[in-house]
Amino acid sequence: MLKNILLISVSMLVALPLASRAQENNCITCHQDLEDQDGPSHKIVRDIHFQKGLMCNDCHGGDPTLDDMDDVAESKGYRGVPSYTEVPSFCARCHSDASYMHEHNPSLPTDQFDKYKTSVHGQRLLKKGDTKVANCISCHSVHEIGDAKFPHSSTYPLNIPATCGKCHGDTEYMSQYGIPTDQLEGYKKSVHGKALLENHDLGAPACNDCHGNHGAAPPGVSSISAVCGNCHAFQAELFDASPHKQAYIENDFPMCETCHSNHLIVQPLDAMVGDAEPAICTECHSSDDGTIGLATAASINAGIKKLVLAHNEAEVVLNEAIEKGMLTTDEEFLLNEVKQELIQARTLVHSFDSTRVVEKTKVGLLKADSVKSNSASLIDEYYFRRKGLGVATLFITIVCIALWIRIKRL
Ligand code: HEC
Ligand code: HEC
Ligand code: HEC
Ligand code: HEC
Ligand code: HEC
Ligand code: HEC
Ligand code: HEC
Ligand code: HEC
Ligand code: HEC
Repeated sequence: MLKNILLISVSMLVALPLASRAQENNCITCHQDLEDQDGPSHKIVRDIHFQKGLMCNDCHGGDPTLDDMDDVAESKGYRGVPSYTEVPSFCARCHSDASYMHEHNPSLPTDQFDKYKTSVHGQRLLKKGDTKVANCISCHSVHEIGDAKFPHSSTYPLNIPATCGKCHGDTEYMSQYGIPTDQLEGYKKSVHGKALLENHDLGAPACNDCHGNHGAAPPGVSSISAVCGNCHAFQAELFDASPHKQAYIENDFPMCETCHSNHLIVQPLDAMVGDAEPAICTECHSSDDGTIGLATAASINAGIKKLVLAHNEAEVVLNEAIEKGMLTTDEEFLLNEVKQELIQARTLVHSFDSTRVVEKTKVGLLKADSVKSNSASLIDEYYFRRKGLGVATLFITIVCIALWIRIKRL
């Protein structure tokens, strides 16, 4: 009994705000009676607009106090349903209105429509009437538009690849354009795709982090490449100061993708730099091209290889010392530093300057040598102690036997 009263009062508390909002708004009440769960009036509870207090009539117009759709359709301000081409301006009525948006959420940008107009999507839709490109609701959905922070939103980072990929990964849908349709597939296999989709690392880029949200276009090869530098600042800085910077501009090579590609970016291997296949350097440099390109590549490769070898050898000796139960905290710490030097040497490849890379590897080599020799000493110490222990045990045994004999005689 008590339970029932409680249940009723709780459900009334929950239902009241919705009911009172709906009561003064006939649009939603009437539509909810008519539509199934997939209808706009039911979906809308997941929509950011509804959640922030906006109603059907805020977008569609019409007088919400009327109780007949024909009257609504004739009422002042009724906008009806926008066509595919009209959607951007339908949304922009509010989203490009800086003073309106400021009242609701001052931190929300109001440049989406302006940027959209510059994108390949916007250009094709608005200038050529091409309704296969994305408009606002192809990316944001409709009646369940979410804030990108909500996991159910079509613009939540983990959902973006699928949002863009539903068109860009559909070969038949995209057939008339003659552009590749392998971006989603490549992306999923890339370091970035795996980091985002499998490890849920929100620091890894989704499509929009490289292409922009609304300017989705490659406006120029150089500007989209520069995007890599937002996250990989060291590599970009080194590249900018390297001889490749000017050479790539002159030849119109995009700066990072030339070596790493764009969608299917894999984990780089040391073999990528060098003077023999599969090194990427050999694609442009040859030994007689009049540059020090290939020689540089060879010497960087040799430097890094040496450090990898030294690191691995040091690790083997250190592991033996650890197995023997010696105190190896300092050596473990130092080996970690060797690893850091190696990581930094790999990053320094982007200076394309062998002196800088080799200098870095030398620092690492010295540390690796210390790890190796210190660990070897620890292992020697272990054997020395064991020998000592053996001698001591033997000595004690002899004394014991002597004592025993002596006692027996007495
Ligand atoms: C008394 C019920 C009722 C009320 C109140 C009502 N509608 Fe409707 N609405 C309907 C029905 C039924 C249809 C479908 C048939 C039609 O178009 O007349 C419809 C259709 C629509 C459509 C689609 C029209 C099209 O061209 O396809 C929109 C948009 C819409 N309503 C918005 C609203 C808005 C906004 C309000 C409030 C201002 C509202 N409705 C109030 C019953 C209602
Ligand atoms: C943020 C703005 C926005 C809000 C709020 C909104 N709509 Fe819509 N609605 C649209 C847009 C845009 C379309 C066009 C969809 C399309 O082209 O597929 C649309 C289409 C429709 C349609 C026709 C197509 C369909 O999906 O059935 C109906 C009916 C409709 N809305 C009813 C409603 C009702 C009822 C509400 C309130 C519960 C509502 N809308 C709230 C933007 C909105
Ligand atoms: C009646 C004015 C109006 C219309 C029309 C409108 N919006 Fe909104 N929109 C808002 C307001 C107000 C907010 C909530 C701002 C807040 O309080 O955070 C919002 C929020 C959003 C957000 C979430 C922003 C965020 O990250 O917090 C998205 C996305 C969005 N709208 C997309 C659209 C799309 C797409 C359309 C067209 C189908 C549209 N809106 C039409 C007023 C409108
Ligand atoms: C090609 C897909 C795409 C199209 C087309 C698109 N958006 Fe977006 N929109 C996004 C993505 C992705 C985000 C950002 C999500 C995030 O913050 O990570 C976003 C963010 C937003 C936001 C939140 C504020 C902001 O700027 O970050 C609003 C509001 C918005 N879009 C409205 C619109 C409107 C209005 C249109 C049509 C003129 C539109 N969008 C067209 C993909 C799109
Ligand atoms: C509704 C389908 C659709 C959706 C969703 C969509 N696009 Fe597109 N996009 C297209 C079509 C169609 C073109 C036109 C292709 C052309 O003209 O080459 C295009 C063009 C592009 C281009 C320019 C390609 C070129 O070089 O010509 C880029 C970049 C792009 N889209 C990125 C994105 C991103 C990123 C997203 C998601 C945030 C996205 N698109 C969502 C359909 C879509
Ligand atoms: C790490 C950055 C990055 C990510 C993530 C990314 N792209 Fe790209 N995308 C690029 C670059 C760079 C280009 C090449 C631009 C050029 O050369 O003009 C490109 C080109 C494109 C093109 C033009 C056609 C082509 O393949 O050359 C489309 C369409 C596209 N990307 C869609 C997507 C989609 C969809 C996603 C998500 C599944 C995505 N991109 C993710 C960087 C990225
Ligand atoms: C939004 C930030 C962001 C952008 C933009 C970005 N990346 Fe990344 N990138 C990451 C993160 C995070 C990882 C680490 C993924 C992992 O291994 O967990 C990564 C990993 C990588 C790796 C592998 C590194 C390794 O040691 O395994 C390469 C290579 C790479 N990115 C190249 C690029 C290129 C080229 C671009 C531009 C076309 C780019 N990235 C754009 C964040 C970004
Ligand atoms: C996409 C083509 C391309 C690739 C790949 C490439 N380079 Fe280059 N590199 C060039 C061009 C073009 C120049 C300028 C040559 C000139 O000045 O005539 C250059 C110049 C250099 C220079 C300066 C040469 C000098 O004599 O001053 C070095 C060093 C260099 N590259 C090293 C490398 C290394 C190491 C790799 C592999 C990791 C590599 N390059 C991969 C195109 C490339
Ligand atoms: C001329 C070819 C070339 C260009 C251009 C290039 N890289 Fe690399 N990159 C390499 C090679 C080779 C390696 C592998 C080095 C190794 O593992 O020994 C590498 C490794 C990396 C790594 C993993 C190692 C590390 O530094 O953490 C990242 C991340 C990376 N590159 C990002 C970038 C970015 C961002 C750009 C553009 C600013 C870029 N690369 C431009 C050749 C290039």
